[in-house]
Amino acid sequence: MNLVTLRTVREVRNHLAGVRHKGKKIGLVPTMGALHAGHASLIQTARSESDFVVVSIFVNPLQFGPGEDYLRYPRPIEKDLEICSQMGADVVFLPEVAEIYAAEQRVFVDVTRLGDHLCGPFRPGHFRGVATVVAKLFNIVQPQRAWFGEKDFQQLCIIRRMVQDLNFDVEIIPVPTYRDADGLAMSSRNAYLDSDDRAAAPTLYRALTTARAMIENGERKAAVVKDKASRIFAEQLRIRPQYFEIVDPVELQPVDEITSEVRIAGAIWLGKTRLIDNVSAALLKHFRHVTCS
Ligand code: PAJ
Repeated sequence: MNLVTLRTVREVRNHLAGVRHKGKKIGLVPTMGALHAGHASLIQTARSESDFVVVSIFVNPLQFGPGEDYLRYPRPIEKDLEICSQMGADVVFLPEVAEIYAAEQRVFVDVTRLGDHLCGPFRPGHFRGVATVVAKLFNIVQPQRAWFGEKDFQQLCIIRRMVQDLNFDVEIIPVPTYRDADGLAMSSRNAYLDSDDRAAAPTLYRALTTARAMIENGERKAAVVKDKASRIFAEQLRIRPQYFEIVDPVELQPVDEITSEVRIAGAIWLGKTRLIDNVSAALLKHFRHVTCS
């Protein structure tokens, strides 16, 4: 089947009405384009788990703050369409800004509490912009399933909670973070890095995996783990750490004492590029129950 590119909400509704009429289950992979192997793995997973795959490519102005990279965000559309086609997508929804925000947006989706830590305080309005555009995409495409990367763990949790609280009839499926061989999580923003910054970038994943190993080896004090991470960042003068947090994996609240599974997440600046990443850390069984005899 050839890839179909649709640019308007009406075209999507008309096209998908026919697909739904045939009883096909529709899957959606929302993206902002500049597709890389991480996005490709989402599309591939969607392909294997649904009858019909829609990929949306929309650089959403509502989720960028003033002074962020909205204007310079890469938009290599021909290459993106090629990747969608190779991964077996059926439709690419490629709207203009005026199609999505035809009138000034007056309704916003605000998922409270889950945005209070990690990226939230550093990007005011960001998750409101994300949740609002994803709600619109869900209403336009009306997929049965949608795939989101664990790379953006806070986003994934916020979308899940939006679906739960607003009764969207969509199953949210998480996809593990796809990494380069040296551990750096794939990101459209990696394209901004010069060679020195690219060489320093895997330090973020190294700090995260070191933190995970400490927890799995029995360290229970978040402050001790975070202190080790700041020492790892301090060895790399190019890196300006923004945050490094250990949170519970549902409410995303920082924990002081690690007593169950946690999510470790960090953000760093390298030059003008901001990178984020996260890993989960489970408590290993033999450390969970300390028995006294
Ligand atoms: P974007 O950054 O293009 O990411 C689109 C999807 O790809 C997200 O679900 C993201 O988590 C996932 N992704 C990105 N890098 C990944 C990697 N290395 N491994 C696995 N998955 C990865 O996230 C957005 O766009 C936007 O906020 C969006 C949800 C489209 C709303 O505008």
